Amino acid sequence: MTQVFFNGNWIAPEMAQVSVFDRGFLFGDGVYEVIPAFNKQLFGAKAHLTRLARSLREIEIVDPMSAAQWLEVIERLVVQCPSDDVSIYIQVTRGTPPKRDHAYPNPPVAPTVLASANPITPVSEEIRRQGARAITVPDLRWSRCDIKSVNLLPNIMARQQAVAAGASEAILVREGIALEGAASNLFAVIDGELLTAPLGPHILGGVTRNRLVDMVRAQGQIPLLECPIPFDRLFDATEVFMTSSTRDLLPITRINDHAVGTGKLGSLWAQLNQAFQQLKTQRGSV
Ligand SMILES: Cc1ncc(COP(=O)(O)O)c(C=O)c1O
Repeated sequence: MTQVFFNGNWIAPEMAQVSVFDRGFLFGDGVYEVIPAFNKQLFGAKAHLTRLARSLREIEIVDPMSAAQWLEVIERLVVQCPSDDVSIYIQVTRGTPPKRDHAYPNPPVAPTVLASANPITPVSEEIRRQGARAITVPDLRWSRCDIKSVNLLPNIMARQQAVAAGASEAILVREGIALEGAASNLFAVIDGELLTAPLGPHILGGVTRNRLVDMVRAQGQIPLLECPIPFDRLFDATEVFMTSSTRDLLPITRINDHAVGTGKLGSLWAQLNQAFQQLKTQRGSV
């Protein structure tokens, strides 16, 4: 059975328990990271660990481990997991002080650390053939979406609305701008240009997004602009796709009740997806 890494120990998942005074439990006072491995090879681990270190820094939790120590832990989880394609989950909270108080514990207490592994669920055959549907919802999140905080209530509610509507993802719209998904970044082809929201406090800087931006710029098959996507222009898009570590480039062929472009899988998506799948198989892409 796959053990979990919990506060420095390797133990069975059912033995990993947090106190009711853990600040993650009480306040959602913590951050997380999701790191994929394909065919037992970590993909983008360095970028994910850099983002974890940044999230911790931004909320003033001292990183409990060095990058090398994190890497050792996640490599062991990948080896232990029965699946070839693995999603590593890391969570660090501000720990368990004796008393509930909004302010940070002073003196600080040891953070609570969890790392675990789960098989990646592949995208369905139907979506592979026809693309997925997304719905648009108001973005109810805070103003530091660049921090990968465990406070995910608005994301959860948005994804649930999508699921209830029979869709795969929710596109979050703030002040007339389509920003990103509940757990993915957004790309749209409009007037022959590929657009994605610029990095900043209103989106999470997705590792998949950033890798795709670099790939498109290097290949140069289409101009890529990091600029706001007005909500109404989304319906002029000829192609839309949403990126994340566990769903790669998810093609969106319907938004609400509108077909995107022809309503079929787009040719740019097909090209980029193929190049991306190739990248995943290359060794040394840690
Ligand atoms: C809000 C949000 N945006 C974007 C992403 C995609 O990030 P990544 O490509 O690093 O998985 C995620 C991933 O969970 C997310 O939660």
